[in-house]
Amino acid sequence: MHPILDRRASRWLAIVSLSAACARGGGGVAREPFGTTHRGEAVSVYTLKNAHGIELRVLDYGGIILSLQVPDRSGRLDDVVLGFDSLGDYERGSPYFGALIGRYGNRIARGRFTLDGRTYTLATNNGPNHLHGGVRGFDKVVWTAAPFERGDSVGLVLNYTSPDGEEGYPGTLRATVTYTLTNANQLIFDYHATTDRATPVNLTQHSYFNLAGDGKGDILGHVVTLNADRFTPVDSTLIPTGEIRSVAGTPFDFRTPTAIGARIDRDDEQLRYGRGYDHNFVLNKGATGNEPTLAARVYEPTSGRVMEVATTEPGLQFYSGNFLDGTLQGKRGVVYRHRYGFAMETQHFPDSPNKPAFPSTILRPGEEYRSRTIYRFGVQP
Ligand code: GLA
Repeated sequence: MHPILDRRASRWLAIVSLSAACARGGGGVAREPFGTTHRGEAVSVYTLKNAHGIELRVLDYGGIILSLQVPDRSGRLDDVVLGFDSLGDYERGSPYFGALIGRYGNRIARGRFTLDGRTYTLATNNGPNHLHGGVRGFDKVVWTAAPFERGDSVGLVLNYTSPDGEEGYPGTLRATVTYTLTNANQLIFDYHATTDRATPVNLTQHSYFNLAGDGKGDILGHVVTLNADRFTPVDSTLIPTGEIRSVAGTPFDFRTPTAIGARIDRDDEQLRYGRGYDHNFVLNKGATGNEPTLAARVYEPTSGRVMEVATTEPGLQFYSGNFLDGTLQGKRGVVYRHRYGFAMETQHFPDSPNKPAFPSTILRPGEEYRSRTIYRFGVQP
């Protein structure tokens, strides 16, 4: 049986199909129903496996990464991302666990920007500001999903057309995001978009990781290296001030491997504003053209798991899960306490539509938005 099932396939068939793929010892893709949104849309979960047993489960709702099983240094698989068991939990109030973010990752000050002489007003959903695309961003819509299998990878192509005026943004935006899981243990995100009117675009992926395993405690012992000499300091509402500041001599210097928890509680204005790390790092870029360059490396000492992040984007939002406070109950009944997960969101800088000195996020008709991010998983002794 072909392991990719059509939309009418039953749950039973999907499970048989996945088993067949596993029995071959290679990768595979299978689809199962995952419930219905409060609007009545059917949601599916796609299970993708590579040849080394890495298993990725993705919803067509929000492109959400539900789980990601990755081996530790002894080969033991654990789920390394935070999430929920049910669609209802995602709909009721997820802090963007695993989701695709659009049209604009991170904040736009006061939900306003001026483009080509016209001022646009966006939905405000984070104090005075617009965050992660607004009230109903790309994380809360159902994408069209098409799975694929190639010789050395499996994947999912996700499509969403955002109508003109959605959340206040100008133009119809056609977005395609491809998730590829390779036999080299890479998870690749390829973003593509076109528009019929000039609009800001800044797409990202908001998975929260705990490389020791989901729910196994806080992430303060993870050792992080960031390829960034500078970061963009913020005001008390987490909007960049416009300054590009050196990390030298600050708790933001991750140029050599440093535990997340080593300096997170220092008396530092920026750490106070972020309640920890919640900042955009300006990635060091050589003369590499448009190829992804190394942005971050994260090592978890107890499991030995390593995650490397490479991207074509100029920035990386390193978020240390500061808003997790023990009120959310996730997969398998796990309670997400303070800093139980971290995110590495590759992106253009926050509030770029209001910061002419930052790299532009404006996409115009006839242009193509292209961006690539790679998460690579491995182990270290
Ligand atoms: C991003 C933001 C944070 C927070 C999380 C989601 O990382 O910068 O402030 O909103 O998303 O909770």
